[in-house]
Amino acid sequence: MPRLQARLAALPAGLQSHIQRVKDIAQELALRHGVDPRQAALGALCHDVARAMPDAELLRRAAELELPIGLLEQRVPLLLHGPVGAELLRRDDGLADSSIYQAVYWHTTGDACLDSLGQIVFLADKLDSQKIGRYPYQPLLREIAMEDLDRAMLEFLSRELISLAGQGQMVHPAMVEARNGLLARQRP
Ligand SMILES: [Fe+2]
Ligand SMILES: [Fe+2]
Repeated sequence: MPRLQARLAALPAGLQSHIQRVKDIAQELALRHGVDPRQAALGALCHDVARAMPDAELLRRAAELELPIGLLEQRVPLLLHGPVGAELLRRDDGLADSSIYQAVYWHTTGDACLDSLGQIVFLADKLDSQKIGRYPYQPLLREIAMEDLDRAMLEFLSRELISLAGQGQMVHPAMVEARNGLLARQRP
């Protein structure tokens, strides 16, 4: 993907640092779980390519790309930065790896379809040390993620779901689906 470096270089400095930290964590998790660390690094580098787009642009591009825009995306267009980023990389940059595509697409909400690579990118994004304020249980999550990706996903999604519901906020259906999928796998 020759355009990826240019895309990354055009992002705000803070976002570039976040992406580098996520890349480091993703590589570490990949090594731990027998996933190709180069693929994990690539997924991490790709995950936030559309993160700096203003809401109006995200909505416009999502409509152009015929991506589903649900109730939550209408209210919080930022939720579209994963799907829009994944589609841009696929259509314009020749991203052919479906595992990385799904990892980028679903890195904000999670999804039942995520494989180990997708889970690694998802968790690495949440384990960025700068997000400790938002996720104070990071040390525990990191410990679990090093041991068992499914269990770490379940831990994170359960905590987020409870927190969002407790604050009277909406919960993205993909987040619920992701959690249900993990529970179904755990207790058939
Ligand atoms: Fe993101
Ligand atoms: Fe991110």
